Amino acid sequence: MNTDTLADHCRRIYKIAGADTILGEGISDQVIRSYYTRSSFYYRKMHSPEGAMHAPVSFGQGIPHLYKLQYQARFVDSLIAKHQYSNVLELGFGMGFNTRYLAEKNPTVNFTGIDLTASNVELARKNSKNLPNAHFYQDSFDNPTPTDQRYDLIFAVETICHSEDMAGVLERYSKMLTENGRLVVFDGFRKKPEPETDPDLKAYNLLLWGFALKQFYSFDAIVDSKRLDFMNFEEITEYSENVLPNMQVFQKGAFKALRFPFILKAAVRLKILPPEFVKQVAAGLTSAHFLESGYLGYYKLVLSRKEGIS
Ligand SMILES: C[S@@+](CC[C@H](N)C(=O)[O-])C[C@H]1O[C@@H](n2cnc3c(N)ncnc32)[C@H](O)[C@@H]1O
Repeated sequence: MNTDTLADHCRRIYKIAGADTILGEGISDQVIRSYYTRSSFYYRKMHSPEGAMHAPVSFGQGIPHLYKLQYQARFVDSLIAKHQYSNVLELGFGMGFNTRYLAEKNPTVNFTGIDLTASNVELARKNSKNLPNAHFYQDSFDNPTPTDQRYDLIFAVETICHSEDMAGVLERYSKMLTENGRLVVFDGFRKKPEPETDPDLKAYNLLLWGFALKQFYSFDAIVDSKRLDFMNFEEITEYSENVLPNMQVFQKGAFKALRFPFILKAAVRLKILPPEFVKQVAAGLTSAHFLESGYLGYYKLVLSRKEGIS
């Protein structure tokens, strides 16, 4: 997309939501909860009726959307099978899509999930009544309820990007792994410094606001973090080009929604649409741009304990 088109559409969102709201809202747990509570309807309607809240990973044309959405869970499933894991924790499970998929496939494995958003916990529980091995709780990975519990596998799909301290979360949960345990993360990271000038700065602020993020974490800073010295990054794979096609579809939807910005603004003012809908439009407009320009990357990280460290 050319920069003028992006800048013009960004301006439309600033006019609809107001620069004060976009730049001054601040991202607290309350904002994140409200974002997911009010967006879950749109996720189910426009992205995944099965309740996935993450990017589908695509390896070519003609593959069903649901299969692409199961990519992350299929990878986790392969580790469970390979290492005969029996106790698994999902951080930020959303509507429970990944854990439900895994719990169905592995009836003898115990699955626990935590998520910040109460409405997500309710939905995940409701949708997994037939799965006695799946347990969902409301909790925060930034400030979790203390526990002595250990897990063979802990995974997080597009959730610890919301953390106040991503390296701290990885350190905390690495310490909760059993000896041969693994931590798996699928998430978006920043590959370049934050933009300092417009139009990218304006678009970047919309991107953060649109995804209810305080920041995008620098990929290098996380992988080189001294706090993770006791862990190996056993696998690092970039999937940016595999998630880009979906982001481009998301962007087309944003263009459509912004064709008549005054209608969108009126719909929000009259409470026909929640303000979070405009956030979704902002995220849709900008995420493909930052992926295409190599500014952001989508990665899988697999961490395991270094030998000799208990
Ligand atoms: C993009 S959704 C991903 C959901 C799920 N992992 C999936 O793949 O469908 C991010 C989820 O992270 C949760 N979340 C955000 N901050 C959190 C925190 N501090 N602790 C636990 N969950 C959190 C949100 O409530 C939301 O359900």
